[in-house]
Amino acid sequence: MSILDTLKQYGQTRLADYIASLTGEKQAKLIKQAEAVDWEEAASLVRSHVLQKPVTAIPSDLAPAPFFPFPPKTEDQKELYRKAREKGIALLREGAVAALTVAGGQGTRLGFDGPKGTYPITPVLGKTLFQYFAEGILRTGEKYGKPLHWFIMTSRMNDKATRDFFQEHRFFGLNPDMVHFFTQGVMPVFGYDGQVLLEAEDAMSFSPDGHGGTLLALKKSGALEFLKQNQIRYLSYFQVDNPLVPVADPLFIGLHAMEGSEMSCIMLAKTGPKEKLGNFCMTKGHLSIIEYSDMPDELAEQRNPDGTLAYLAGSPAIHVISREFAERLTASGRLDLPRHRADKKVAFYDAVSGKVVTPETPNAVKLEAFIFDALPLAEKTMILEGVRTECFAPTKNKTGVDSAESCRAMLCARDARRLELAGTKVPEGTLVEISPRNVIDDEDACTLFAAHPAGELKQGEKYSF
Ligand code: UD1
Repeated sequence: MSILDTLKQYGQTRLADYIASLTGEKQAKLIKQAEAVDWEEAASLVRSHVLQKPVTAIPSDLAPAPFFPFPPKTEDQKELYRKAREKGIALLREGAVAALTVAGGQGTRLGFDGPKGTYPITPVLGKTLFQYFAEGILRTGEKYGKPLHWFIMTSRMNDKATRDFFQEHRFFGLNPDMVHFFTQGVMPVFGYDGQVLLEAEDAMSFSPDGHGGTLLALKKSGALEFLKQNQIRYLSYFQVDNPLVPVADPLFIGLHAMEGSEMSCIMLAKTGPKEKLGNFCMTKGHLSIIEYSDMPDELAEQRNPDGTLAYLAGSPAIHVISREFAERLTASGRLDLPRHRADKKVAFYDAVSGKVVTPETPNAVKLEAFIFDALPLAEKTMILEGVRTECFAPTKNKTGVDSAESCRAMLCARDARRLELAGTKVPEGTLVEISPRNVIDDEDACTLFAAHPAGELKQGEKYSF
């Protein structure tokens, strides 16, 4: 069957007719793009997710998920965390851990044209997100005597720009053999009428298919095989938009290993019922995350008798994933995680007028799978409470909540705290930035400033260390 027949069979008549009206290179290009899509799957998703809004079914037995509190509450817990930290350090020393960053998203809310990792974020020197992580990865490898491999997921839209950026900056001092890019999949973008949109006169509109594609992309790219051959058992997973995250936290990794967890999560107490964080929930004995956009208001607002939120635990999207879990889930070469609908404003080429139309209101649906939908498939999971000021400063928007501005302020506050811990007074209004190349934790800060005192800091000045 020709691709035009396939398109018609699965309801994409507008694209089929348009392709049929073209000739030469334009036609050939569109045919090639259309041939790469699974139209049977697309048609079923159009029915379930585009032509109607899927309602996330909330299970009747839904309950908040339990977690390991931080700081520890009992002497036993204190002892457990001490051992877990030691275990994590031992695993890092063995080289059993690699870092994994998902960086395939489009960063539309930030309004930044380019891979998000190339966004300048640090408060004094304006280092990019990628450089900041690279420095942390270098120091972690140095500290534990075993360089860390770093896996970075890109998408077709930003893969080349990301690779070029690392080349231009000589991998920020990392060994290029230790940095592994792999590319996630894409999905066609559909208009509200269920017809696929065109991005240009000779191109369909595609968007990255969500970080739910990470595990399969690891498998298909050969990364899982590489991990196995190099005896790497754990992936320390974080998002490119969060520079405050420790790239590999010994306590979190150690507790994951000691608990025999397949996929673990950091949780934060939400700042309010509507904070834009996924919600940790239990159903039928399994952990799952209900995304903020899917959480019904009455559940989000539900309170305990003492007034605290019933669903307090929010996800900063920081995980440890066992390689064996990823292998098990992707063994068949498929991993069908549920798709989620996102309503977006998408500029499109209108074949009738021959013009690109930029809509004022959402006009299209992007379909994404989420990595945390793998949690219910795990036999064992674990959640550890995190300290917000030490691990979560997302850069989603330009200003306001979860913005580049708030992220810079948090990076600065964390480094000011470390300077004070090491005995240096940081006057109010003074901007400070400590390179993660030398300091990834409080211990490093004390060592650094004992050897090289920071001196007296003046109010309102900027300092980088
Ligand atoms: C995300 C989480 C949310 C969590 C919050 C914490 C999702 C769906 N939700 O929300 O549960 O509480 O972060 O900050 O992720 N990405 C890809 N490929 C894609 C799409 C995204 O690699 O196809 C990457 C982005 O580059 C980014 C991360 O995933 O690093 C998060 O994506 P984003 O769309 O910003 O998610 P949020 O809605 O902020």
